[in-house]
Amino acid sequence: MSKRAVAAAALAGAMIIGLTACSSGSGSSDGKKSDGKLTIGFAQVGAESGWRTANTKSIQDAAKKAGVTLKFSDAQQKQENQIKAIRSFIQQKVDVIAFSPVVESGWDTVLKEAKAAHIPVILTDRAVDSKDESLYVTFLGSDFVEEGKKAGDWLVKEYASGSGDVNIVQLEGTTGSAPANDRKAGFADAIKGDPKFKIVASQTGDFTRAKGKEVMQAFLKSQPKIDVLYAHNDDMALGAIQAIEEAGKKPGTDIKIVSVDGVKDAFTAMSQGKINFDVECNPLLGDQLMDLAKKVKAGESVPRRIQTEEGTFTPEQATAALPNRQY
Ligand code: AHR
Repeated sequence: MSKRAVAAAALAGAMIIGLTACSSGSGSSDGKKSDGKLTIGFAQVGAESGWRTANTKSIQDAAKKAGVTLKFSDAQQKQENQIKAIRSFIQQKVDVIAFSPVVESGWDTVLKEAKAAHIPVILTDRAVDSKDESLYVTFLGSDFVEEGKKAGDWLVKEYASGSGDVNIVQLEGTTGSAPANDRKAGFADAIKGDPKFKIVASQTGDFTRAKGKEVMQAFLKSQPKIDVLYAHNDDMALGAIQAIEEAGKKPGTDIKIVSVDGVKDAFTAMSQGKINFDVECNPLLGDQLMDLAKKVKAGESVPRRIQTEEGTFTPEQATAALPNRQY
């Protein structure tokens, strides 16, 4: 064999070893785990809401149950922290990266890095607005536009018989996030047919109770007449309820409240007549995520989009569901 042929054979051998180590998940010389278990790197948004806490618990419990090694990172609602976490998962050569993007835009660079490292990416809960669909294998989560539409449809029915103006204040979720963008759009679409519905103020409360309260306090000061509060999630609605009560008004009566999520605390408030309608957003995505990650790792094909099943709740339905509500 010529010197050149020997060198080429050695190079080919090295490439095969490298690829095997990368795809099998069993090598150890490159710092990769050696127990043969599936490893998922999960970059969570944060701990901003009751919904998020339930989502995190669902993922952690499901990983344990499925025998999956979970590397978990909390981004504290900051995109740069999520990008750092994803880069660290790439360095650690996890088998699958999953994440719920804080905001919709600005992911292409890091997702291209994951693709170049041959690590499949699963989006859960929130989507990205990337044009390049090859950057992730699937998206598991709710239809947020539909959720906003359900909230708006309820309002239209609730005020079907009245003709005077209905002044609405809106507590938006995190600016630039898919649920904030989509819930706003879906709601606007549902009420647009009737000019009596007026969104008189709309501001972000960042999906947190504290911000929801703060922004509602400002709305109460600046708006002479508020008929309805539309909150993009329950935590902001619960914060706003405190502000409304502190202002000497009755939430659910003086100001009607429609919200999204369906967490236990909101159901309790509904049983007390403080929230009038809640659109469900299911946080229990853990089992489906583990199942998807295993399939993706095994090279099986999975649907591009998996939508979660969700309902809506009146106060009567919430009160009945409360004793068995998991989150
Ligand atoms: O992305 C889902 C949303 O994020 C939930 O409605 C909200 O509570 C959470 O913070």
